[in-house]
Amino acid sequence: MIRKFGLVSAIALATALGSCAMMPGFGGDASGSDMPPLPASATATIDYARDTHSFARPEIAHVRHVALDLTADFQAQTLTGTAALDIQGVPGATEVVLDVKNLDIRGVSDATGAPLQYETGSLDAIKGQPLTVRFRALTAGETRRIVVAYATRPDAAALQWLTPGQTAGGEQPYLFSQGQAILTRTWVPTQDSPGIRQTYDARIVVPAALRVVMSAQQLTPEGEAAGPGMKAWRFRMTNPVPPYLIAIGVGDLAFAAIDERTGVFTEPSRLAAARAELMPTADMVDAAERLYGPYRWGRYDLLVLPPSFPFGGMENPRLTFATPTIIAGDQSLVSLVAHELAHSWSGNLVTNATWDDMWLNEGFTVYFENRIMEALYGQDRALMLRALGWGDLQSAMAGLSPADTMLKLDLTGRDPDDGLTDVAYEKGAAFLFTMERLVGRERFDAWLKGYFERNAFRPMTTELFLEDIRTHLVTTRALEDRLMMDAWIYQPGMPSNWQPPVSTAFVPVDAAARAFFADHGPASAIPWAGWSTQERQRFLAWRPEGGREGADWLSPAQLANLESTLKLRDEGNAEVLFSWLQIAVQHRYQPAVPTLEHFLTTMGRRKFVLPLFTSLWAEGDWGRPIATRLYARARPGYHPVTTGSVDAVVGRP
Ligand code: BES
Ligand code: ZN
Repeated sequence: MIRKFGLVSAIALATALGSCAMMPGFGGDASGSDMPPLPASATATIDYARDTHSFARPEIAHVRHVALDLTADFQAQTLTGTAALDIQGVPGATEVVLDVKNLDIRGVSDATGAPLQYETGSLDAIKGQPLTVRFRALTAGETRRIVVAYATRPDAAALQWLTPGQTAGGEQPYLFSQGQAILTRTWVPTQDSPGIRQTYDARIVVPAALRVVMSAQQLTPEGEAAGPGMKAWRFRMTNPVPPYLIAIGVGDLAFAAIDERTGVFTEPSRLAAARAELMPTADMVDAAERLYGPYRWGRYDLLVLPPSFPFGGMENPRLTFATPTIIAGDQSLVSLVAHELAHSWSGNLVTNATWDDMWLNEGFTVYFENRIMEALYGQDRALMLRALGWGDLQSAMAGLSPADTMLKLDLTGRDPDDGLTDVAYEKGAAFLFTMERLVGRERFDAWLKGYFERNAFRPMTTELFLEDIRTHLVTTRALEDRLMMDAWIYQPGMPSNWQPPVSTAFVPVDAAARAFFADHGPASAIPWAGWSTQERQRFLAWRPEGGREGADWLSPAQLANLESTLKLRDEGNAEVLFSWLQIAVQHRYQPAVPTLEHFLTTMGRRKFVLPLFTSLWAEGDWGRPIATRLYARARPGYHPVTTGSVDAVVGRP
C-alpha cells in the first residue's frame, strides 16, 4: 500500500504553479528537426484537469520528457531497459506519481545512478498501479531526472508480438504498440494522462534484420551497429505529446515516398499496393493545411500494419498507423487517412484533457475529415459519408443509455473504451456541422482555425472549449440560443436544431434496398456494379423500420440470391463484407459461415470482430457454438485490445 510522504503546502503549490519553465533543449527548441518551432502556448502553464484514469498528480510534479532505451527480445516477447524521465514540479515536491500496468520494475535511480526509493500501490483493474518515486525536494525551476529500469511483460496490453507466420513475409517477427486510451502505461512507465504532454526520445535495439519506426523523427535512417546481430534505431519527438501518442512498430519494413513529405511503410510484399492506395495522402495534407493552418509535425507518413491491428487507424504523430483492410484496391476507403490526418490538429495539437472529453478529439476529427474529403472528392461524396455516419449514430444510440449519448461523459470507474462510441464521433461531428450551418462556413472556419492556433499543444476540456467559442464566435444571445450548445453537450440524444444530412445519391440506393429487402424483389434488380463502396454500404445497412427484433426479415432463399448475385463470397472490400456478414449472422445463414470464419481468422480489427461475435452470441443455440469455435481459432492472432473486448462477450476459450 502506498503511504503519504513529501507534504506540499497548498500555498507553495499555488505559487509554484506559475513558474514551471520549459526545460531548455526540449520542446521549445526544434533545431535539427524538420518541425517548426513551438508556439508560446506550448510552454505556458497548464491547469491540469482532473483525469480519473490516471494516478498522476501533475500539479505537484509532472513528467516533461521521456527518454527510452529499450531492447526488444522477440523470444521472450519483452522490451527491457530504461525510461529516463525529466520531472518538474512545485518547490518542495519530494515525489512523483507515475502510471504503470503489468510492468516489471527493476529499480529507480537518479541521474547519477544512485538508487531512489519507490513504491507501487495496489492494483486497479482498469488503471493499473501508481508508481511513486521519492526524491530530495525540488527547488524552484528545477528539472530532475529519474531513471526507471524495467521490462514489459509478454501480455502487455499495448503491445502485440507477432510470429513470422503472422506476417505477410513469413520470415521475420513483428511488434507494434497501441497506446490510446490508457495502454501506454503497459510499456512506458510515465504519467499516462492526455493532459500531461511530454517530449520524448528513444533508442530501440532490435535484431539487425528488422527496422524500427516510431511516432517521432527518425535520427538513424539505416539504424546503427549495436553488438552482434543487433541494430539500434534512434528517434526524437520535439513537440510535447500526450503519452497515448508514443508509438512503435518493428518488423521487416520497407518505405515508399508519396511526395516529399508523405510516404508509406509496410512489409515489402505489400508496399506497391499500399502506396498506390494511399496516393491521395499528399493532396489531403495540402487540403488540410488550406482549411485550418500549417501542419505542425514535419513529415506525414503511414505505417500499414499486419491484419491484427485492432483499429482502423491511429493518429500517431508523423506516422499514422493503419489497418491493411483499407487497402481495397480502388482507394475507396481513404477517408480513414483523412480522419487520422485531421487528428494532427484535432487531438494531437489540441488534445482532450481527459477521456470524458473524447468528443473534442473524435467529433472535431470526423468533421475535419469530411471537409478534407469534400475538398478532394466533392460534395456528393462528402454527403454520402455524412449520411452513413448519421445512420451509424442512430443505430448506436438505440443501444446506449441516455447518459452515454451526451457528448461530455463521466467515465469515472469505467474503462475509457466505454466512451468509444459513435456518439463521440458522429454526434460530435453533427454538433460541428450544425454550428457551421447556423453561423456560416466562413465564420465557422475562421473560428476553428483560430481554436487550433490558440490552443496548440494544449489539453482541452469541454468547458474550455465553451469558453473559447463564447469568446471568439458565439458572442450574442441570439446566436447562443440558436446553437443550443449546452443541449448538444450535456443532454442526451439530438437537440431540436439538428438537421440530418440528405444525400441525393442515396435516394436510388434506398429505393433499391426497399425493393429488395421490404418488397422482396430479385437481387438481379440491384444496380450493384454501378455503385461506389459508399452506396454499397448504404444498401447493406438497410434495416426494417423499428429494427428486426425477434423476426427474420429475409428468407434463406433471398439471402442465397443476394449472396450469389452480388458475389459476396468473393467480396474484397472489408467494409462491404462486414456489412453483409452482419446480415448473414443475424439470419443464421449457415452458407456464409465459411466466409465469416475466413474473415474473423485473417483480420483482427475490433470494429469488425466485436460486432460479429456479439451478433453470433445473440443468436443463441445457433450462434454461440460457432462463436466459441471461431474464437478459439482466431483469438491467438488478435491484439490484446481486441481480445479484451471479445473475451467479455464470448468468454476466454
Ligand atoms: N484515435 C482513434 C482510435 C482510438 C480511439 C483508439 C480511442 C483508442 C481509443 C482513431 O483516430 C479512430 O477513430 N479510428 C477509427 C477510424 C476512423 C476513420 C473513424 C477506427 O479505428 O475505426
Ligand atoms: Zn479518430
